[in-house]
Amino acid sequence: MKVQFTETVLRDANQSLIATRLPFEKFEPILEKMEKAGFYSVECWGGATFDSCLRYLDEDPWERLRKIKSKMPTTKLQMLLRGQNLLGYKHYPDDVVKKFVQHSVSNGIDIIRIFDALNDLRNIKVAVDETNRCGAHASGAISYTTSPVHTLENYAKLAKEMENMGVGSICIKDMAGVMSPKEAYDLVKAIKETVKIPVVVHTHSTTGLAFMTYLKAIEAGADVIDTAISCFSGGTSQPATETLVYALRQLGYEIDVNDKLLLEINDFFKPIRAEFLESGTLEPTVLATDTNALNYQIPGGMLSNLISQLKAQNALDRLEEVLVETPKVRKDLGYPPLVTPMSQMVGVQAATNVLIGERYKNISKEVKAYLRGEYGQAPGEIDAELTKKALGDEQPVTCRFADTLEDAFEATKKELGDKAQSDEDVLSYIAFPQVYEKFREKREASLENRAQYTIETM
Ligand code: CO
Repeated sequence: MKVQFTETVLRDANQSLIATRLPFEKFEPILEKMEKAGFYSVECWGGATFDSCLRYLDEDPWERLRKIKSKMPTTKLQMLLRGQNLLGYKHYPDDVVKKFVQHSVSNGIDIIRIFDALNDLRNIKVAVDETNRCGAHASGAISYTTSPVHTLENYAKLAKEMENMGVGSICIKDMAGVMSPKEAYDLVKAIKETVKIPVVVHTHSTTGLAFMTYLKAIEAGADVIDTAISCFSGGTSQPATETLVYALRQLGYEIDVNDKLLLEINDFFKPIRAEFLESGTLEPTVLATDTNALNYQIPGGMLSNLISQLKAQNALDRLEEVLVETPKVRKDLGYPPLVTPMSQMVGVQAATNVLIGERYKNISKEVKAYLRGEYGQAPGEIDAELTKKALGDEQPVTCRFADTLEDAFEATKKELGDKAQSDEDVLSYIAFPQVYEKFREKREASLENRAQYTIETM
């Protein structure tokens, strides 16, 4: 049986370990070798890379993508997209989603992994359809979580609906690294029995389960796993590529990656890792195993947020109470997966309930928006009393939230005028308006400097 690898060093490993601070020129020299290494795909764009390019690295994310493509013309380049939220947390109208997908593909993306935090498939449909229309591969990702409503049957049903929608593969996306080997085995098996398309598994090493989880997922028939080259692996990143290649090959799996090139790729990234460790951007603690997420059944990032929130209010002694309240709030909200922004929403509400001493006396505006249906449909049933308390007589929207939004691309383009040089600029602005403005000013200043310099030296 064949197992394939998606290398994440340029996106998820970069994002999870060093806050997506890897500039293009640092990894440019290794791209030609990565191109030949035999990966199923290289995840290199989307997620936080876009924001980070504009905000911290003074790079045009679109130009980064084109440059990667020019060095890796045949390897499949992959990006992560939050469905109707694109790369952020708010819903965009359909015309913007379509344009974003079109330009992602025309600038070099081959595979778009599309997910919705609530697994509300209405929120991924437009992106999936457009990806297919553009001739790229849409991978439908399931946000993994555990709850009484997240049963194997429901997950398999979700995968089937995605297959019917036209995705080319199903990805089980365990962003918190909490999926256990047994859960992975059962889930992959259930999905493989239901759909015909390949199954990809994505997890993080955070809790230490990942190697075992991948092994059991593969035993159950997973086709592709996400891994990171060893010196950018482990901790909050993915498990190591080379380790899994070694172990799986010995077990008789057919694997096409080139070991010699993996060695060279890792040697290339070692000094880069040393540099980030030295500067403090890479903190050694994120490389360690943290099992708290298993004890408390909430993701590690959410726990550290709760702790700092309570510290700020001088109430760290109430942590245990908040940890008891958290699953109750999650239940009241219909068991949303604890991913951003739901993890913050649930955490803050639980802390508020405890600190005020009365449940839902204060309801955050995010929770109200959630109850209004602005994020999509909850996986389970929302507590009716809570909805009534938060919304009064106001009725939650039952349609897809993006249906309430007006087209925005052409109007924004017009409004920007010569502040945008391309449709890609317009999309950067729509995604991150202030960040784009600052980026554009800097870009113009540096272009002017360059022009000045050319004139003077000619
Ligand atoms: Co991830």
